[in-house]
Amino acid sequence: MPDNRLTLKAATAPVAFDVSAVSADFPLLAREVHGKPLVYLDNAASAQKVQAVLDVMTSSDTQTYANVHRGIHFLSSEATRETARRFVNAARLEEIVFTKGGTEAINLVASSLGAEIEEGDEIIVSDMEHHSNIVPWHFLRERKGTVLKWVPVTGDGCQGLVHETVDVQALDCDFYVATAHKLYGLSGIGFFYGKHEHLETMQPYQGGGERSTR
Ligand SMILES: Cc1ncc(COP(=O)(O)O)c(C=O)c1O
Repeated sequence: MPDNRLTLKAATAPVAFDVSAVSADFPLLAREVHGKPLVYLDNAASAQKVQAVLDVMTSSDTQTYANVHRGIHFLSSEATRETARRFVNAARLEEIVFTKGGTEAINLVASSLGAEIEEGDEIIVSDMEHHSNIVPWHFLRERKGTVLKWVPVTGDGCQGLVHETVDVQALDCDFYVATAHKLYGLSGIGFFYGKHEHLETMQPYQGGGERSTR
């Protein structure tokens, strides 16, 4: 009979984290500052870009760039929201809305949903929120006379997506905000997931072509 204890031990032994190998993937970390190797610990605010992201940025500009979904030609239809949809397991492509980042996504939701909100309605936010998930609700309170309430923190969206697999259908959330610069990507781009039923009824936030948002 095989010794299962040994098999189990091998399967669960912690894998050593090779810091040098991981660091080598981030070109900026090769810099020296004051004669010493750069140590960067501010990833929660903004992560450095990994080489694979820099490569994709170059190849998307040189190989596949097109106006997203506003054209009917091959390159335009190739530039889709499908990767983001799969990343958070949204049921439909139209539930993914690209924005300029997390702040714009939350402002968009607060502003568009705000049209349906009435005086005395309650907005509940966690007591550890980033300012971009507080100030838009303050604006709404001033505009509409809503009531702001606070609850203890849970895993929040922009940070949670970096550390765990997010399945918006399993979470059954109405909205989920993501920003690229915490995911080793660019500053100035993000997206949010919104349940189709809400996006269908929300007031438009900006006017423009197909890729501009509700
Ligand atoms: C939890 C959380 N929400 C929202 C944001 C704002 O995102 P962005 O910098 O893309 O506007 C951040 C990042 O600073 C964040 O950490």
